[in-house]
Amino acid sequence: MTAPVVECVDASKNFGGVTAVDRVSFALEPGEILSILGTSGCGKTSVLRLIAGFEAPDEGEIWIEGRVASADHTLVPPEKRGVGMVFQEYALFPHMTVLQNIAFGLANISEQERHKRLSELLELVRLTGLERRYPHELSGGQQQRVALARTLAPKPVILLLDEPFSNVDATMRADLRREDNTILRESSITTIWAEAITARFKPGAACGRIKTAYPTTVNKATKKEKAVERDPVKEKMTKRCVPS
Ligand SMILES: Nc1ncnc2c1ncn2[C@@H]1O[C@H](COP(=O)(O)OP(=O)(O)OP(=O)(O)O)[C@@H](O)[C@H]1O
Ligand SMILES: [Mg+2]
Repeated sequence: MTAPVVECVDASKNFGGVTAVDRVSFALEPGEILSILGTSGCGKTSVLRLIAGFEAPDEGEIWIEGRVASADHTLVPPEKRGVGMVFQEYALFPHMTVLQNIAFGLANISEQERHKRLSELLELVRLTGLERRYPHELSGGQQQRVALARTLAPKPVILLLDEPFSNVDATMRADLRREDNTILRESSITTIWAEAITARFKPGAACGRIKTAYPTTVNKATKKEKAVERDPVKEKMTKRCVPS
């Protein structure tokens, strides 16, 4: 039996008295997509940062491809985890073109390989033809896909997407979410996708398996979330955490 690509075991994180993450557990098989849904401040980004290695858990463990990444006396640095994270604000380089931004993720490969990989990535994220544009010449959705391609460029084993459409008009989100979901499935990348629940969010739109975070902390979600994972009728559970 192969180990899960990523496993989070009872991970907790406090920030000066605020419990951001409290005993969160899950495991993802290769190619699986997990959506962490929850209201603002419930700890979604904190969970992703623990997995990426930007933060150390106070308690619990993170395992990546069967090896411990975070535990009591272990903290593998972010660059050695094979984890790619697309940040909420995309963090594109404004003075670089689409191609230069994506190529930033590629190092130590031959010119020929680089060219091939860039063409593949542009095609994957549907940006072929726009490679010479600068970020300010792109729509919010296109900017998000540049950030996605740049993160996928070095072939991470896990992709973390932190509210990928927070900069995009709400009416565009459903289409973009569908497109991203297709791109992720085409590239078979194991993905954790954090998305804020707002009054306009349609629970059925979430990608992959769902982990629901309740308004207080991700922790409060976890006990109920186990039921969500087993329950094909996810919508009912998810609706409960839409703020009134
Ligand atoms: N570095 C930090 N120092 C202090 N408190 C922090 C830090 N990072 C997060 N927090 C707190 O932890 C809680 C969870 O924050 P987090 O950013 O993980 O929430 P979130 O679910 O991603 O919210 P949003 O949807 O607004 O992005 C919040 O109360 C936040 O203020
Ligand atoms: Mg966040």
